[in-house]
Amino acid sequence: MAGMSVLVVGGGGREHALCLGLARSDSVGEIHCAPGNAGTAEIATNHPFSDVSDLIHLAFQLDVDFVVAGPEAPLCEGLADQLAKMDIPCFGPVAALARLEGSKLHAKQVMQSNNVPTASFHVLDSSSDIDAALDDFSGDPWVVKRDVLAGGKGVVVTGDRAEAKSFIEESIDSDGQVLLEAFLPGDEASMLVIMDASGYVCMPASQDHKREFEGDKGRNTGGMGAYAPAPVYTDDVKMKTIDRIVEPMHRALSQGRVPYRGVLYVGLMIDEMNDPYVVEFNVRFGDPECQITIPLIASDLGELLNAAANDNLANIDVEFSNKHALTVVLAAENYPGPVEKGRIISSVPDSTHDSWVNHAGTKVENGQLLSNGGRVLSCTAIADSLGHAADKAYALIEQIELSGSHYRRDVGHKAL
Ligand code: AMP
Ligand code: GLY
Repeated sequence: MAGMSVLVVGGGGREHALCLGLARSDSVGEIHCAPGNAGTAEIATNHPFSDVSDLIHLAFQLDVDFVVAGPEAPLCEGLADQLAKMDIPCFGPVAALARLEGSKLHAKQVMQSNNVPTASFHVLDSSSDIDAALDDFSGDPWVVKRDVLAGGKGVVVTGDRAEAKSFIEESIDSDGQVLLEAFLPGDEASMLVIMDASGYVCMPASQDHKREFEGDKGRNTGGMGAYAPAPVYTDDVKMKTIDRIVEPMHRALSQGRVPYRGVLYVGLMIDEMNDPYVVEFNVRFGDPECQITIPLIASDLGELLNAAANDNLANIDVEFSNKHALTVVLAAENYPGPVEKGRIISSVPDSTHDSWVNHAGTKVENGQLLSNGGRVLSCTAIADSLGHAADKAYALIEQIELSGSHYRRDVGHKAL
């Protein structure tokens, strides 16, 4: 299957990593990206689009062999369903299965009916006794989750009862209902599982750094850095995760009329007994987890993603490198608050075999590289040890000049 043509949907660091991995795949001849960024423009053809029907039209016109969906929103809007009507395979699930990310309540119900370990919860609406529910989960911080796609702003974890109560009331007002969850203590890890009807492949587990400042302080962000493999994901945890979470979820997701084809992001909380619980499911690669997972896949990425889009995973071999990968995100001034776009970026190092400079919020105007978003770039290094990967990633990011930009200096600290 030499020379496949692929359309990657999205324009962040995740999609640049996907394009870089596809560009290194012998099976791939042509890469398109919609909308892409300044980084993808160097290895793919970027295409603007306004909605899902534009994407379908684009995939058809370009006559691509398959589509790879980066973000969740187009999947929830039916990207894979509409592509299927045109006989274009999609790496990414149909809308009914993308609800695992689109609705936290739906995800809870699927977990409950398949005995997948997760925090217990109440669903609250305008007729609920909110105080009684808060009493039920008192003693730990309260975890309140909106039941909508909220772009990372739908969860509040707080020990302040008044804050929990007002977030519950606001969410019921805007969404009709809200989830109140038991607090799970432990260490978090992200486990990405590529699956289709024929089987599944677990990626090396990683750890993300969601808070803006060192020491996990400050506001929540989309992710300020990540590393893999995460030592908290021991062989024991891995066995339990596969047995209790991956196997039952794969069974549940592959038995419908249309099976799950794509990557399931399993957000794990691992407690002191080494028991894994699901904190969340996403129906896409994590960002920045993707940037450190893709470089650890030793096999042909195009072949892997295409296999999953066509229920052919069981027939291919997937190998991983035994190296370590670490990425540090360079964020614009004031991120995760509102940022000014269009600032000049200079001294960006080139990607090499074992160091990837991932563009996220970047664009080129009149030959000048400019910032174009909150998370601007991330520097990823691959090395024999996590410490070396960290040294290399920081040596890269220190070279980049962008006024007001900031990054966390402690990525990987928990493992180092
Ligand atoms: P989510 O969007 O569901 O992943 O939640 C965002 C973050 O909130 C997670 O990455 C955790 O750090 C935290 N969180 C969510 N649910 C829980 C829980 N039940 N117990 C403790 N922390 C949680
Ligand atoms: N880095 C977390 C996420 O992509 O959801």
